[in-house]
Amino acid sequence: MQIRVLGSAAGGGFPQWNCNCPNCSGVRQGTIKAQARTQSSIIIGNGSADWALINASPDVLTQIKNTPVLQPARQARDSGIAAVVLMDAQVDHVTGLMMLRERSAPLPIYATTQVFEDLTSGLPLVSALAHYCKVDQRLIEPDRAGFEIPEIAGLTFKPISLSSKAPPYSPHRHDPHPGDNIGLLVTDHATHKTVFYAPGLGLIEPAVKEAMAQADVLLVDGTFWTDDEMITLGLSAKRAIDMGHLAQSGPGGMIEALAAYPNKRRILIHINNTNPILREDSAQALQLKSLGIEVAFDGMHIEV
Ligand code: MLT
Ligand code: MN
Ligand code: ZN
Repeated sequence: MQIRVLGSAAGGGFPQWNCNCPNCSGVRQGTIKAQARTQSSIIIGNGSADWALINASPDVLTQIKNTPVLQPARQARDSGIAAVVLMDAQVDHVTGLMMLRERSAPLPIYATTQVFEDLTSGLPLVSALAHYCKVDQRLIEPDRAGFEIPEIAGLTFKPISLSSKAPPYSPHRHDPHPGDNIGLLVTDHATHKTVFYAPGLGLIEPAVKEAMAQADVLLVDGTFWTDDEMITLGLSAKRAIDMGHLAQSGPGGMIEALAAYPNKRRILIHINNTNPILREDSAQALQLKSLGIEVAFDGMHIEV
């Protein structure tokens, strides 16, 4: 199975348009050792020209431009994006859907009941697309047997419900339901190799532990280094956990959770622009390096 990281930053991207935090201003001015990043999205494929787009970021057009395999040019109008799979209904994961409206056939979207509800109510992008290419709604049920995408044979996608957060415009924001946020265990039938992808992960619950134990490669929430990162920088009153993200450092943090799997490939993704790990020479980035934990970047290829 092939994975390409289209966008490795959290919502807002890096640098964020209005942000003057040390990271954003540093990367803008070229005074820190860091690389700009677009918003959260990956593609997964089986080696053919057809790919599953996992989350449709607001930066999807730039990402497609930067990823030539997504334009196989087999006919007058064509795309390597055969289907979309959504992890949640957050702005950074869904607003790119509107950019795919010129398709000539309905866009296959795999999502949970909760996500389709959000996208036909609080943020009605699926309803809006009905006036353009239309959506082929393919409902997925978390914590059941995995589903297959007929356009991308040989891979099984198993959705795992995650404790994270539905978006602020969701009818479920303060009334969490399984299916508001999911992770994916993707298995390649030929190699029996599995990746666990979870860009928004607030709590390592037993099902998450099980998924992590089962996977060969972990591609998980790298949003914040500390739970109070946004507060300390004076940018927000919200803690990481209020936004559905488990911080990396400290007791019970993501690094501790990943320490159980020293022999697996472990990659942090969905990195917020405030996170010190974006500076390649920061103490935090060097700590990750010494632990063998990677930081995803745009254009990263992962072979599982
Ligand atoms: C999140 O995952 O918390 C989002 O990146 C927030 C957003 O996009 O506004
Ligand atoms: Mn996000
Ligand atoms: Zn910033």
